[in-house]
Amino acid sequence: MTTENLRRSLKNPVCLALDTPDWPTAESLLERLGPSLGMVKIGPVLYVRAAGSVTDWIESGTCPVFLDFKWHDIPHTVSEAIRGLPGRSVRLVTIHAQGGPAMISAAREAAEKKGENRPLVIAVTLLTHLAKGELCLLGIKDRWEGIQRLGKAALDAGADGLVMAPGDVVRAREEWGPGPFIVTPGIRFVRPEAGSGDDQVLSETPARALENGSDLLVVGRPILESPTPEKTLEEILGQCRPE
Ligand code: C5P
Repeated sequence: MTTENLRRSLKNPVCLALDTPDWPTAESLLERLGPSLGMVKIGPVLYVRAAGSVTDWIESGTCPVFLDFKWHDIPHTVSEAIRGLPGRSVRLVTIHAQGGPAMISAAREAAEKKGENRPLVIAVTLLTHLAKGELCLLGIKDRWEGIQRLGKAALDAGADGLVMAPGDVVRAREEWGPGPFIVTPGIRFVRPEAGSGDDQVLSETPARALENGSDLLVVGRPILESPTPEKTLEEILGQCRPE
C-alpha cells in the first residue's frame, strides 16, 4: 500500500496500543472498541503472552494492524520477519533508524514483495525516554539534531515514514514535507506537568497532534486504564473531527 492510499483508507486516525496483560482482556477491548478504531497496534507486551491468539486475530483481518516490534537487527533477519508476517491486514511495521541503511532497504524490499497491500516501513529515530546523559552515551549531543540525522538516513534508505513525538511533528513536516507517514504516540488529554511521573514527557492532545501534521495517533494507557474505555475513545474521536 502507498502512504497516500493508507491515509485515504483509514477510518479515523486513532490507533489503540493493545498493551494488555492477556488475550481475554485484549479480545474484550477489541469487541467493544474494534469497530470504532482506525487501527490497532500490537507490540511485545501482548505478543509474548498470547502469540497464537494474536496471530489468529491478525489473520482474521478484522482491523488494520500496526505491528510495533521496532526491529534493529541484521538485514536478513528483519527481511525474513517481514516476509513471514501473518495475513494481509498488517499496514505498518517499525524498525530502528539506527539499524542503518542496509537494514532499512532490506525491510522496504521485503515489504514491497508483499504486493499491493504491503505494510509501510516506519522508522523510529530516538526513543523519547532517552535523557541527555543516555543520549551522550550514544554519541548524540543534541536530541533534535539526532532525530534529523537518523530521520533523513531512514527516509533516504526507503522508510515510508517516521515515529515522531507530538512536539517534534511540526519540525518534522518542515524538514521532510507532507510525504512521510508520521505516527505519533504520547497522546494525552492534558499535557503532563514536568516531573509529574508520566513517562510521555513530550505529550500532546489529539487535536493538537493532528493540527501539527501527524497521520496516526497511538493511544494506549488513556484508553486501557480508563474505567469507561468506550467513552474515552469517543472523546478522543470527537477531538479528531474537524470543527
Ligand atoms: O500508553 P501510551 O499511550 O503511552 O502508549 C504508547 C504506546 O506507544 C506504547 O505501546 C509504546 O510502546 C509506544 N510508544 C512509542 N514511542 C514513544 C512512546 C510510546 O512507540 N515515545
